[in-house]
Amino acid sequence: MSTTLDIDSILRQAGPVLHQQGHEIQPFGHLVRLPIALAESVCKHSVENLNQLLADTITLRDLYKKHHWQVVGHTFYQLHLLFDKHYDEQSTLVDQVAERIQLLGGVGIAMAADVAETTIIPRPPKGREPVPVQISRLLHAHEIVLREARTMARQAAENGDDGTNDLIVSDVIRTNELEVWFVAEHLVDTPLVRANGGSGNA
Ligand SMILES: [Fe+2]
Repeated sequence: MSTTLDIDSILRQAGPVLHQQGHEIQPFGHLVRLPIALAESVCKHSVENLNQLLADTITLRDLYKKHHWQVVGHTFYQLHLLFDKHYDEQSTLVDQVAERIQLLGGVGIAMAADVAETTIIPRPPKGREPVPVQISRLLHAHEIVLREARTMARQAAENGDDGTNDLIVSDVIRTNELEVWFVAEHLVDTPLVRANGGSGNA
């Protein structure tokens, strides 16, 4: 007794089922409960704060890449490298903040359009800007992130969300403070040393 194989139907089962559609399994702004011994209200508050921090960190990260590509002038090489280093560090923070949102039961924003709607960092022009303007823009963005991060860290500590507090203090705040130092030193306008010793007698 022999069985006839229908090769067409077998191959159909082996192929991917494309163009699937369905409703979201977790709408944005709604939390799922995970057994992490934190009240839902605490998780919700931290998720809202972290989503703002995420949008601003993604924006700052992208600002560094824009300036990495568009920098000009005699400090091109060192700033080109420095801006990319800070881009990488901000990328790490983006991942840490986004995954903290998920483990608290929330949904992290991810796409550019949603980031643009949420961030409070001013939008830069599409064109190239001179180095002092690039740096001023970066420092302003860092201060926005640091100001909100300090407030959010205090709130997380008061609510007993030590993990969020630790992430914001140990990673977000420390990284941003260090990057501010490295970037800000490029704006110091050191007077030239006089060739005749600087006695003032010309
Ligand atoms: Fe590059």
